[in-house]
Amino acid sequence: MRAGSLNVAAAAAIAFAGLSSAANITEWKSQSIYQVMIDRFARTDGSTTATCEPYLFCNGSWTGLINNLDYIQNMGFTAVQISPVVKNMEGETAVGEAYHGYWTQDDYAINEHFGTADDLKNLAAELHKRNMLLMVDVVVNNFAQAFNNIVPPKVDYSVFNPFNDEKYFHPYCNVTEWDNATNYQDCWLYPYGVALADVDTNSPTVVTMMQTWIKELVSNYSIDGLRIDAAKHVNDAFLPQFVEASGVFAFGEVLTGVVTDMCRYQTLNLLPGMPNYLEYYPLNSAFNGGSMTDIANMRNEAATGCNDTFALGTFVENHDMPRFASVNPDMALAKNAMTYVILNDGIPTVYQGQEQHFSGNGTPFNREPLWTSGYNTSAPLYVYAATLNKLRNNAIKLGGSSYVETPSDQLFVDVNHLCLKKGPYGSQVVYCINNKSSNGPSYTMSIGGFQPGDNVVEALGCTTSTADATGNVTMYMGAGEPKVYVTAKMIAGTGLCNTTTVAGPIKKSAAASLQGMAGGVLMAVVIGLATLFLA
Ligand SMILES: *[C@@H]1O[C@H](CO)[C@@H](O)[C@H](O)[C@H]1NC(C)=O
Ligand SMILES: *[C@@H]1O[C@H](CO)[C@@H](O)[C@H](O)[C@H]1NC(C)=O
Ligand SMILES: *[C@@H]1O[C@H](CO)[C@@H](O)[C@H](O)[C@H]1NC(C)=O
Ligand SMILES: *[C@@H]1O[C@H](CO)[C@@H](O)[C@H](O)[C@H]1NC(C)=O
Ligand SMILES: *[C@@H]1O[C@H](CO)[C@@H](O)[C@H](O)[C@H]1NC(C)=O
Ligand SMILES: *[C@@H]1O[C@H](CO)[C@@H](O)[C@H](O)[C@H]1NC(C)=O
Ligand SMILES: *[C@@H]1O[C@H](CO)[C@@H](O)[C@H](O)[C@H]1NC(C)=O
Ligand SMILES: *[C@@H]1O[C@H](CO)[C@@H](O)[C@H](O)[C@H]1NC(C)=O
Ligand SMILES: *[C@@H]1O[C@H](CO)[C@@H](O)[C@H](O)[C@H]1NC(C)=O
Ligand SMILES: *[C@@H]1O[C@H](CO)[C@@H](O)[C@H](O)[C@H]1NC(C)=O
Repeated sequence: MRAGSLNVAAAAAIAFAGLSSAANITEWKSQSIYQVMIDRFARTDGSTTATCEPYLFCNGSWTGLINNLDYIQNMGFTAVQISPVVKNMEGETAVGEAYHGYWTQDDYAINEHFGTADDLKNLAAELHKRNMLLMVDVVVNNFAQAFNNIVPPKVDYSVFNPFNDEKYFHPYCNVTEWDNATNYQDCWLYPYGVALADVDTNSPTVVTMMQTWIKELVSNYSIDGLRIDAAKHVNDAFLPQFVEASGVFAFGEVLTGVVTDMCRYQTLNLLPGMPNYLEYYPLNSAFNGGSMTDIANMRNEAATGCNDTFALGTFVENHDMPRFASVNPDMALAKNAMTYVILNDGIPTVYQGQEQHFSGNGTPFNREPLWTSGYNTSAPLYVYAATLNKLRNNAIKLGGSSYVETPSDQLFVDVNHLCLKKGPYGSQVVYCINNKSSNGPSYTMSIGGFQPGDNVVEALGCTTSTADATGNVTMYMGAGEPKVYVTAKMIAGTGLCNTTTVAGPIKKSAAASLQGMAGGVLMAVVIGLATLFLA
């Protein structure tokens, strides 16, 4: 039995639904996802010394993940997305080994590098015990085989299961026309080192076989949701039938920054959700010489073009893209990006290592083993993610679907700032991200979103203020830090900010930990009591 741990109404409803193990779109919208690359998350024996070559197996496992679920749950995540789970091709190729899980050979066998079928079942059970959900990455576009780079590839189809014959595949052609859907859907992707034989998902027989498979996979391993790899490279008609057969929510990977290319998957009912590549690009560029107004503009375009932005997964890092810190290592920028990812409309998706400020560049260097971090729960971005998830989880507990499915109000935007209010009054979170960097100046701004006289807490710095006659609070900006405001009443349910100081100007010389005190009197406030008093 499991449910979105946070939404009481949904939890009650699913309890009545009894044995249903799958989670639907409504439940997924209130989750916060942590993305795990199994080979690089944790080893079964917890060892950290054997050197990890980026192109080869590093021996992380499902049991390693089970042993470290506290690390993820204590950061406030409610769901875990894992690498594909089925058997891959063995051996080393010109592009390394199948440590990532994307080189399918047998859909009906488990990837023994990651553990046994029971280990995978245990993972689902351990997550569900914690009221967390399991999302599994699945590959439908292609099966893989080592390839000597002589075209057309000579593929031994008989080793594939269940697609053990050439008739289940599109004939070889190399994808060359990225604006011609027939070409990028029916031809073979990246023929180098490994041949990615393109499954003929247009064939009714293949469709049926895939449906049978995914139904069984979801049921055998108690999977709650899917990520469909390379969904854009599969013909449109295949997708909704596949999702429907699975019985669970799915993110389909549609790698494009173009609104019309992305949103058609929702407006034509092809996929329920997608990782939000639309905002990924302006979000990154705003911290890399671009402007915050570009994020604001894309938010508006996406909200108009896609009809369910709440089912898009907000992210700034994943296993395919260079790490945020590979472009700019400034910690304040990374904090702002994390703030946006967790508080934006949509499903927050944080890729393992982002919370440790990893800085690997393109694939495979963005797949650093997490164990090198010592799973440090004091790392600044770990602490930020934990705070932000706690706030969001509590807002969902208070506001339910009206928190999740009410579009954010844009309170303020200029080239350096984007300020949004998420959620209706009572569960609202008001936040401002900026791109000033750690050496940014100190200044004040005024931001709305409250009612006159509301007692407000800035949750990242634990400072208090009172909303003025217009419902605004003064933001004491400095060192490029983001700001996140909630009512004192709202934060009381979170265990955050047990001790607060009165908000005031930041003294340039003050140590970071003393910044909040500079303009005010140090005041220890037990928020629970304060709330009774202020309510
Ligand atoms: C999802 O499941 C919940 C809990 O069972 C139920 O209340 C809700 O109506 C379902 N939503 C959809 C869109 O099916
Ligand atoms: C992973 O395990 C294999 C098989 O036991 C072993 O040969 C290899 O050295 C290990 N690699 C690492 C990086 O631990
Ligand atoms: C496939 O096409 C790409 C361009 O899309 C090209 O770079 C690559 O060399 C081609 N590979 C083969 C094997 O033809
Ligand atoms: C699109 O790609 C397909 C498959 O490669 C090809 O047959 C077709 O001619 C292309 N269409 C256009 C308009 O170029
Ligand atoms: C699911 O489990 C059944 C019963 O053990 C087995 O026959 C079937 O092959 C499994 N399917 C998948 C996709 O793992
Ligand atoms: C999105 O729009 C399409 C076409 O109008 C409609 O069929 C579909 O139900 C809509 N989906 C949502 C989630 O609103
Ligand atoms: C922040 O935005 C400004 C204005 O667009 C831009 O000049 C600056 O380079 C950006 N800062 C960073 C760190 O990218
Ligand atoms: C964990 O991170 C904190 C904050 O960056 C740092 O002070 C501490 O030394 C780290 N601990 C370990 C064991 O690396
Ligand atoms: C209140 O905040 C809004 C932004 O939310 C801002 O536009 C407005 O100028 C502020 N009002 C005052 C009086 O500063
Ligand atoms: C804050 O208070 C809560 C509830 O009393 C407690 O669980 C939590 O550990 C406290 N946090 C800190 C950092 O002291």
